[in-house]
Amino acid sequence: MSKSPIIEKTPLMEEYEESTGKLAIWKGEISKNFKKWKKKKKADEIKQMKEDILSQSRIEKKRMKKEFKEEKIAGKDYDHLIVVENLHKTYLLGTTAVAALRGVDLTIDNGDFIDIMGPSGSGKTTLLNLIGGLDTPTRGKIFLEGRNISMLSDNDLAEIRRERIGFVFQFYNLLPQMTAMENVMVPLHFSGKLSRRGKRKKAMDLLRLVGLDERAHHTPSELSGGEQQRVAIARAFANDPAICVLDEPTGDLDSKTGVMVLNLLRDLNQRGATFVAVSHDAAVSEFATRVFHMRDGKLTHEGKIRGLKETEIMQLTRKKETEINKEKCKSKIFQYLYTNQGKMEVPINDIKNSIPNSIVMNLPEHFNDILQELIEENNHFGRIEGDVLILN
Ligand SMILES: Nc1ncnc2c1ncn2[C@@H]1O[C@H](COP(=O)(O)OP(=O)(O)O)[C@@H](O)[C@H]1O
Ligand SMILES: [Mg+2]
Repeated sequence: MSKSPIIEKTPLMEEYEESTGKLAIWKGEISKNFKKWKKKKKADEIKQMKEDILSQSRIEKKRMKKEFKEEKIAGKDYDHLIVVENLHKTYLLGTTAVAALRGVDLTIDNGDFIDIMGPSGSGKTTLLNLIGGLDTPTRGKIFLEGRNISMLSDNDLAEIRRERIGFVFQFYNLLPQMTAMENVMVPLHFSGKLSRRGKRKKAMDLLRLVGLDERAHHTPSELSGGEQQRVAIARAFANDPAICVLDEPTGDLDSKTGVMVLNLLRDLNQRGATFVAVSHDAAVSEFATRVFHMRDGKLTHEGKIRGLKETEIMQLTRKKETEINKEKCKSKIFQYLYTNQGKMEVPINDIKNSIPNSIVMNLPEHFNDILQELIEENNHFGRIEGDVLILN
């Protein structure tokens, strides 16, 4: 004898019955009206959640505006070129809030070359866009040359971007129908300080600075990726910015070309330019003066510090850690070679990419030197030629 299953009454059903005076279960079945009620209730809840998030951010904006007014007069005197204080950025995606930045503090000084490393989605671009005045934070402050730029109007921000900030992006973002020189001249048109001749001279000087004066009359499609990025760097410097921000500057380049671009950046940095770059390319950090790591919208430890005196114990610990990493690195190289047996030539970058970043980033010596040492320790099983390991 079969028996129809008995439907258990849920707390939600009880709520329905209490608020409507109707039965949620009727003749052993869930009532249609209850189902409708449940659907509507859910939709209402989502709507409410969305409103809460929006109103919260409105309250926060209001509070920041008030503080901002009080700080607006400040400026002129400043200790750091850029000060980032407790920066938060939350994006609203449909009904979910994505916390891209969750309390970032950072100071940048003249002459720094900062690299912020981190996996994709960790918030690097968001942070860079806020520092560069391309977007405004949900909470927190950014001071540029002593001026709070976190609450400026779009017009004021545009002016700051034009006059004080240089941008370099992963895909160069050059105007395709213009020559290299015309591209470099674009920011000069906006500032309107120079004569036509003055602009041409300045553009040419900048192209010379990046070693591309002979390519001045070529369009981007006639230039290699590395050359296009160098034009973009020249363009970034056209308005004599206080700082140049770079988002994955080597992201679209092969490692050799990437290193050439990084050498140029280091050269410019040594002549006084200030950079803040974000990337997940470990090579960038080798050229930077200060390296930070980013994870889940927060900045973690600074990897490399120029000028800070380590205590002896700190030095010893770091040395021990990096020596351990060196050994780990060697065994990972072997592991890679073992699983890729039969290949005669292996790009060194492929080996490097097979090793966790936490190891590669914290080695006592250059990766290639460690690879060389390993080869020498093991009957010279191969040799390094440029970017490639040739196996015997
Ligand atoms: N405009 C946007 N709208 C919604 N979510 C965004 C937006 N931009 C970035 N995000 C989200 O914020 C987080 C951080 O993104 P992003 O700053 O681009 O990281 P990264 O540059 O390190 O890859 C990611 O989860 C991303 O999906
Ligand atoms: Mg990014």
